[in-house]
Amino acid sequence: MDKLKEKFSLKATAYAAVVKDIIKNHGTEKFGEYTVDDVYGGMKGITGLVTETSALDANEGIRFRGYSIPELCEKLPGNGTPYPEGLFYLMLYDELPTVEDTREINKQWTARWEVPAHVFKTLDSLPITTHPMTQFSIGIMAMQTDSVFAKAYHDGINKKDYWAYQFEDAMNLIARLPRIAAYIYRRVYKDGKHIEPDTKLDWAGNFAHMLGYDGEEFRKLMRLYLTIHADHEGGNVSAHTTHLVGSALSDPYLSFAAAMNGLAGPLHGLANQEVIRWLKKMCEQLGVARPTKEQIAKYVQETLTAGQVVPGYGHAVLRKTDPRFTAQMEFAKTYFPDDDLVNTVWNVYETVPPILESLGKVKNPWPNVDAHSGALLQHYGFVEEDFYTVLFGVSRSLGVLASLVWDRALGLPLERPKSITTEAVKKKLGIS
Ligand SMILES: CC(C)(COP(=O)(O)OP(=O)(O)OC[C@H]1O[C@@H](n2cnc3c(N)ncnc32)[C@H](O)[C@@H]1OP(=O)(O)O)[C@@H](O)C(=O)NCCC(=O)NCCS
Repeated sequence: MDKLKEKFSLKATAYAAVVKDIIKNHGTEKFGEYTVDDVYGGMKGITGLVTETSALDANEGIRFRGYSIPELCEKLPGNGTPYPEGLFYLMLYDELPTVEDTREINKQWTARWEVPAHVFKTLDSLPITTHPMTQFSIGIMAMQTDSVFAKAYHDGINKKDYWAYQFEDAMNLIARLPRIAAYIYRRVYKDGKHIEPDTKLDWAGNFAHMLGYDGEEFRKLMRLYLTIHADHEGGNVSAHTTHLVGSALSDPYLSFAAAMNGLAGPLHGLANQEVIRWLKKMCEQLGVARPTKEQIAKYVQETLTAGQVVPGYGHAVLRKTDPRFTAQMEFAKTYFPDDDLVNTVWNVYETVPPILESLGKVKNPWPNVDAHSGALLQHYGFVEEDFYTVLFGVSRSLGVLASLVWDRALGLPLERPKSITTEAVKKKLGIS
């Protein structure tokens, strides 16, 4: 280790031990309204955000404007697999859409989907090995030249009207994201053979088409996928980032690109890529397509011994099986119950929770949305797992951009929580 690093390592190791000790011995002590655990624990115990589009219950899971995922499947247009257009309408207006409302959203997005040529040129200039999420973020940033809000703000607008310009940006972005995402996919994995959009299709169906996956069953999967990943209340990294960056009046392109950089982290959206890597590695090592539960348990132990997390398991808020996992499980049970990888996902589901529970520190041993999503895509030959987080990102735009428009409509202020040094914490607690 070089000198500078060594010096930091010595300091950090000693100070991390001090912080660990404070949390262990004083975690439940309060200063002000909050405990030491709240302050060091990633703010998880603190309610400090307003988000209207959805709310997450630790035991029940997500509700979008009051509706659970099974209720959405029943009530939104789409005969059981909702059109994401309808969910966006619900999140934006807090009203269930009619079929006509859903069509109107689709019509708007179709009219707005033209991506400026320089965005594709920017993407083409990147090394082909650039991670798809990095390309996605850069593509969104390159498109910021089109921000209606940034231009209007520059020219001078009344703060009462901010939302109207951000509404334009949000609609344009959502309309164009599938085109950028599909461009990246075809560029990286399909020799740059791009597919033109089909004006007759819905938003999710057209996305599937541009990726190169036609067929009604895959379109249904894409509608379900883009619906269930759309929102998870306001505190998760991607939603919170959009809100935080937007609070500085950065336009929706800047805010959403920042959110995608957060989604690209393995503890957040990238977990869907990590799950498939982890499953593939297990099957490869064992030389079998369907490992037994005993083999899975051994592999899980090896993962934990290596100091790694089991991807797809655990959650900062949820304390039960994620209903988004269950919705995907139902889909697989309906369309391909004998698929090897899907059955492995189900066997992992039966094996992992007791092992994580036995560690005594994991607050939620149950699967999250990412534990299942990749296996469904693999079934249809969509095997490039490095791309999976981009699909998540396209979906997440619906919730976070609807919320961003609301942030401006409500005139929510600059976000600026107070921070504190460990020395100040020690002083408040009366410890040296
Ligand atoms: C989602 C996640 C980041 C939540 O983090 P969190 O709120 O800090 O979780 P917890 O409070 O339960 O963490 C307590 C401890 O259990 C560990 N833990 C949590 N989930 C774990 C998992 N799936 N595998 C192994 N260990 C896990 C944490 O790393 C932490 O260990 P530490 O005290 O040694 O640092 C965490 O569960 C995780 O890393 N999961 C795997 C990645 C994943 O699937 N992410 C997608 C989330 S939708």
